[in-house]
Amino acid sequence: MLYVTRRAIFSASHRLNNENLSEEENKEIFDKCNNYHGHGHNYTLEVVVAGEVNPVTGYVIDLKVLKSIIEENVISKLDHKHLNHDVDFMKGINPTAENITVAIWDRLNGKINEGKLYSVKLYETENNYVEYRGEANEF
Ligand code: NI
Repeated sequence: MLYVTRRAIFSASHRLNNENLSEEENKEIFDKCNNYHGHGHNYTLEVVVAGEVNPVTGYVIDLKVLKSIIEENVISKLDHKHLNHDVDFMKGINPTAENITVAIWDRLNGKINEGKLYSVKLYETENNYVEYRGEANEF
């Protein structure tokens, strides 16, 4: 099994807030991240595809193809957007790095035809990242 990674970056703003909690509870849990008008991050996304080498191409997946799948389904939807307001597939979701990562997985899952989606990793800062490998991953 080989693991091929494509990295992409995007900038977005968000506000961490759980609509089911009170204003005070949200302030307590999310602190600065609950700032009413939000704040921004430069996110780094890493998408890993696992598979065997195709004997004809020598690739697990053509990285040009993976690049355009990520661009079309994720980057073009999230880059320079406010995740609480501008993104249809984030509506009603508290946009923590965890929840964004799962949403990105769901956007990409099923769209990769060479190899298999193995992991989605999202860096919110240089030091903080979340990795998701799906609900019932067979790997
Ligand atoms: Ni934040």
